[in-house]
Amino acid sequence: MAIMTEAPERHSIGLSMKRKEDPRFIQGRGRYLDDIVIPHTLHLALVHSPYPHARIVKIDKTAALAMPGVKAVITGEDLVAANLGWIPTFHGYDKQMVLAVGKAVFQYQEVAGVIATSRELALDAAELVDVEYEPLDVVVDPFESRKDTTIIRDDRENKTNHIYHWEVGKRAETDAALAASEVHINEKMEFQRCHPAPLEPCGILADMDRGTGRLTMYLTSQAPHAHRTVVSLVTGIPEDKIRIVSPDIGGGFGNKVPVYPGYVVATAASVILGVPVKWVETRTENLTTSGFARDYHMNVEIGATKDGVLTALKVTTVADHGAFDAAADPTKYPAGMFGIVTGSYNFPLAFTELDAYFTNKAPGGVAYRCSFRVTEASYAIERGMDMLAQRLAMDPAELRLKNFVQKEQFPYASPLGFIYDSGDYKLTFEKALAKIGYADLRKEQAEKRARGEYMGIGISTFTEVVGAGPSKLFDIMGIKMFDSAEIRIHPTGSGIVRTGARHQGQGHETTWAQIVAEELGLDAQNILVEEGDTDTAPYGLGTYASRSTPVAGGAISLAARKIREKAKKIAAHLLEASEDDVEWNNYKFELSGVPGKSVTMQEVAFAAYTNPPPNTEPGLEAVFYYDPPNMTFPHGAYIAVVDVDAETGETKVRRFLAIDDCGTVINPMIVEGQIHGGLTEGFAIAFMQEIRFDEAGNHLQTNFTEYLVPTSLETPHWETDNTVTPSPHHPIGAKGVGESPNVGSPAAFVNAVVDALSPLGVKHIEMPMTRSKVWHAISDARK
Ligand code: CDP
Repeated sequence: MAIMTEAPERHSIGLSMKRKEDPRFIQGRGRYLDDIVIPHTLHLALVHSPYPHARIVKIDKTAALAMPGVKAVITGEDLVAANLGWIPTFHGYDKQMVLAVGKAVFQYQEVAGVIATSRELALDAAELVDVEYEPLDVVVDPFESRKDTTIIRDDRENKTNHIYHWEVGKRAETDAALAASEVHINEKMEFQRCHPAPLEPCGILADMDRGTGRLTMYLTSQAPHAHRTVVSLVTGIPEDKIRIVSPDIGGGFGNKVPVYPGYVVATAASVILGVPVKWVETRTENLTTSGFARDYHMNVEIGATKDGVLTALKVTTVADHGAFDAAADPTKYPAGMFGIVTGSYNFPLAFTELDAYFTNKAPGGVAYRCSFRVTEASYAIERGMDMLAQRLAMDPAELRLKNFVQKEQFPYASPLGFIYDSGDYKLTFEKALAKIGYADLRKEQAEKRARGEYMGIGISTFTEVVGAGPSKLFDIMGIKMFDSAEIRIHPTGSGIVRTGARHQGQGHETTWAQIVAEELGLDAQNILVEEGDTDTAPYGLGTYASRSTPVAGGAISLAARKIREKAKKIAAHLLEASEDDVEWNNYKFELSGVPGKSVTMQEVAFAAYTNPPPNTEPGLEAVFYYDPPNMTFPHGAYIAVVDVDAETGETKVRRFLAIDDCGTVINPMIVEGQIHGGLTEGFAIAFMQEIRFDEAGNHLQTNFTEYLVPTSLETPHWETDNTVTPSPHHPIGAKGVGESPNVGSPAAFVNAVVDALSPLGVKHIEMPMTRSKVWHAISDARK
């Protein structure tokens, strides 16, 4: 396959055969949790703490149990007795209560579970569980938490709210370089707590079959194999007796990676009662108790020369992890991939450190459409670059162009330890500048400013790190983060591919079939893709953090090449030639030097089952476990154009251009869909979304009238395009893309609004930039 190092136009693979017939080729089926119906299923509803921090004095189950149809009421103490009171968190640094034991540590924490014959009955009976609480002092601010005045987790040996300190880079040299810099910015910024809010909340149907001793869990899971291993380790049920099936789920976005109390209680109830038990979260439960994202409070320092050459970067973060350290990060990376904070720029020196604290808030820190804290890092550097440009009175585009890591520097060793695989930042950015008409927009802005109108242009030229990951560095609870593919080609040339990934709407059914089709010269329409059933799929760590294409995608490609190797032997047999004289060209095996003499993969497949060469194992299938040598580093150049009404604070996003580079593109339409979805989420984060708490710890965004999700009415029109800088180490040169728009866009929006208001002296506005916040920023600046 041709690897393109520079391609201004769209490039795609695997569509060579299919696209001619149907340019809209997309496969897919739907089987949701509610489509799986098992007779005699009982239903679980959870009881939640109204207090963010309170001792549990007494739980009285009597009234709930007296209700006809109620089968059981389960408390934390019951689970402790069954050795299920606490479960490990993903990276293994902390443990987490399943149901509150002794005290509740955040509002809405799960305190008890009611099992009844219908969901409605269970929800009604949950109201009858009588819990007596004794309220305790509440800590919602991580800066207060670090004073240790109130200890949230007194179950821990260390009586402190401090969870960990993490750092990377050269502290002393960076400090010295910053102090010596001609220009030095030192600015605070927050990435607010937000929530992935998938369309469908989390759920489980746990089915313990006492006859066979097998536990089947239909689970809204982004990582079914990892979940199966955790269930086995925690319960002692042998792994072969556990089957996890992840049905089609209405979006995951990192929210469906952790293990939630509802899963554990429903499973325990099914094991105890010997009947299926189902739990489906309510929207409020999803927003208040399941994995939140972000909540990073960052301080960004950048040093530069007077003419804008970067000298050093230091980022210091206070992270709010809620009441349990349940962030779903790889074990060795407590702050995820935050080390990507030097972004696309050639910093000679950098240092970053982070301290994480417990607060009386729901646990989380999930990788919400993000490769583990890349979004926070990207926001910090892209806002920082604009703040520096403002200080230097320099065009932010010029500052970026002056400081990009150059194409010739790849593979590029960043001062914070990553080896960037490939990139051409200048090409991508110049394409964006030309396409949006940057020079003309700046002219228009100057004219508008002269008339007292506030138009802003915001840039974000981000770099990501995705594809966790190489097993020498990446594991979750000790399990290495490789991924896998199994391909079987049937006698008539159709086939099935199974992987350890699990899509939640990213279209793997289409793109995986395309990879197989491209590698084997088969029809993508006839390659069935199956994921999410641990009984049939090979082991893998699932789908999140844009890891599917970099890792599972690589596995598919290499499994297909294994098949091609074997197919070549069969082809030689059919061509009555030596293997050395057979070449794979134009999607078929050709006999070199004999034009027109060739066999297709379909013919080879038939022979593999009907006429294999002597002493050759029949059949045509392969399994590949792919341990990537490095992460992939996609990048992009985003430009937002906004108009701000200084009287009302209302911002209109007039244009938004996203040029993405995710290496080789498998399916342009799916990639475009990914970009549109991620930009819409980034827009929501920038302008609408925040999970807030009052001082008493009350959760203020418990439903979609308070936590706003953009509809087509608010969502701007997205303009997209791409460049192609293939990954040199990925089998087909592809990098991940799903999270790029969520990672790259928030800074572009904020940069645009601040740029619009800079004539007033506005230097920063925290997200979400609601109308009222923007209006206040304007009136404060005017004062
Ligand atoms: O891990 P996840 O599937 O969420 O993210 P991804 O690997 O970025 O892929 C999202 C979707 O875009 C998948 O269907 C990919 O195969 C597709 N994609 C593509 O067509 N070309 C790429 N270079 C990257 C992703």
